[in-house]
Amino acid sequence: MSDNLIKKILVLGGGTAGWMAASYLGKALGSTVRITVLEAPAIPKIGVGEATIPNLQRVFFDYLGLTEEEWMPECNASYKMGIRFINWRTPGAGMARPRPYGRYGDQFDHLFGLLPTHDNLPLSHYWTYKKLNGLTDEPFDRACYPQPALFDRKLSPRFLDGRRVASYAWHFDADLVADFLRRFATAKQGATHIEDKFVAAETDQRGHLVAVTTEAGRRLEADLFIDCSGFRSLLINQVMKEPFLDMSDHLLNDRAVATRVEHDDEHGVEPFTSSIAMSSGWAWKIPMLGRFGTGYVYSSRFTSQEEATREFCRMWGISPDTHPMNHVRFRVGRNRRAWVKNCVGIGLSSYFLEPLESTGIYFTYAALHQLVRHFPDKRFDPVLRDRFNSEIETMFDDTRDFIQGHFSFAPRDDTPFWRACKELELAPEFVHKVEMYKAGLGVDLPVTDETTYYGNFEAEFRNFWSNANYYCVFAGLGMMPEHDPTPLDYRPESVESAEAVFAQVQRRRDELLDTLPPMHTYLRRIHGK
Ligand code: FDA
Repeated sequence: MSDNLIKKILVLGGGTAGWMAASYLGKALGSTVRITVLEAPAIPKIGVGEATIPNLQRVFFDYLGLTEEEWMPECNASYKMGIRFINWRTPGAGMARPRPYGRYGDQFDHLFGLLPTHDNLPLSHYWTYKKLNGLTDEPFDRACYPQPALFDRKLSPRFLDGRRVASYAWHFDADLVADFLRRFATAKQGATHIEDKFVAAETDQRGHLVAVTTEAGRRLEADLFIDCSGFRSLLINQVMKEPFLDMSDHLLNDRAVATRVEHDDEHGVEPFTSSIAMSSGWAWKIPMLGRFGTGYVYSSRFTSQEEATREFCRMWGISPDTHPMNHVRFRVGRNRRAWVKNCVGIGLSSYFLEPLESTGIYFTYAALHQLVRHFPDKRFDPVLRDRFNSEIETMFDDTRDFIQGHFSFAPRDDTPFWRACKELELAPEFVHKVEMYKAGLGVDLPVTDETTYYGNFEAEFRNFWSNANYYCVFAGLGMMPEHDPTPLDYRPESVESAEAVFAQVQRRRDELLDTLPPMHTYLRRIHGK
């Protein structure tokens, strides 16, 4: 065996990113490597980060050998079948209910799962053809997916016998997840947990990190350092001096005010995240048993902390006296390089985008997956490092652009914030995707069917936001393609036979409405209540 193998890894930080890193690397590298997590208990974790996307189970928990039944009850987890965007079209102050607009009010759903296809074209193309020719007034989400009706009735994506009917992700308590992973990594994988505060780092003549020192006088050496110290970015920004690329020219929001609101489960638990447009940003609502987490993400250029807190409290009928408010400042962007010499930033120390599409935790396990694929030895081959850095850059920038599109194409322009969003420049790669959409082409169509797409993380990672995502959001915001999908003009028989697929979606919806249990019932069962 080569003497160059990495033998010791130090993870700085014990938030979600730190414990995900320790457990994922513990699994990937086994007993050949000693992993230590250094965490200062007096420095709080960010304490938000409660909505996820579907590949969390497959790419992260399955990899660790943990079933839903094992981790969900420990983390007060619930199911999420997508995101409901509320009031992104009509003017007004923050309001949790959709304002009047069209047949269903001012709301649309961004759903998980790929679209059905017909004659080798996604159903989105047939819907566009019908819509542009006045043949349907059904919105895209309701015409092409059964899920919006399940949202309305707060139904579970699984039957009581465990059969699943739709792609889903999870909502959970962020602090409980970090605790659960800490117990797993220390008890099951032999990670060492040190509670002490980082104060300084030593580097060698090449500029590689050699050791960190702590407040209690410890000196901890390692071959590889993973910086999970959150927005402080103690190693990669502060010691390695890697510059942070600020991207506030793409996204204006830089603050959040967050709290938890207890709710009466008897009225049901919504199986989706809500994203509610506010005067100077948007608010999330993340339901789970007994409470929902919520926060107003806003831009300090357009509103003050006091004003944002007032609008937020008014919306939920709460007060800072009864509901402690967590005020969070954040930076938007990423480090120029995620991996520098023998230091890799994972989590908030490396990149952050507002949580509009719930991608923060995904970025963490996707980065860990890529780190393991490009795992170095002590020679730190720059080819591995550069490939890893380029994967992280693409993952981040592609999502940044998609999120920016939500603000750019939202019809709202009733406040200075919403007007300013429209003035920001879009990245050229994203402009090209928008042009494709407007020309009636599929945007980043998945290259395989749903089983293969979701069964192969590399396929998904490389084509993360695909046609169905663009359609849900763009059509949901009311931005239609300008042309019919060209092939359909020549194939009236295909348009006609696609009616059977639309009818099948509606039949499936009715069947599920009649048979699925309420989310609340399913969750009580999982949580043994
Ligand atoms: P975090 O700040 O949690 O942890 C940092 C750790 O470093 C702590 O353990 C701290 O003690 C330690 N530390 C700091 N200084 C130290 C020192 N000197 N010595 C030792 N230890 C030290 N993501 C998502 O997927 N879905 C979502 O819905 C959201 N929502 C969301 C909302 C808002 C407002 C924000 C800001 C972020 C999100 N996120 C999210 C992102 C998500 O919260 C984030 O990705 C994870 O919680 C990971 O956080 P970290 O572990 O990187 O930092």
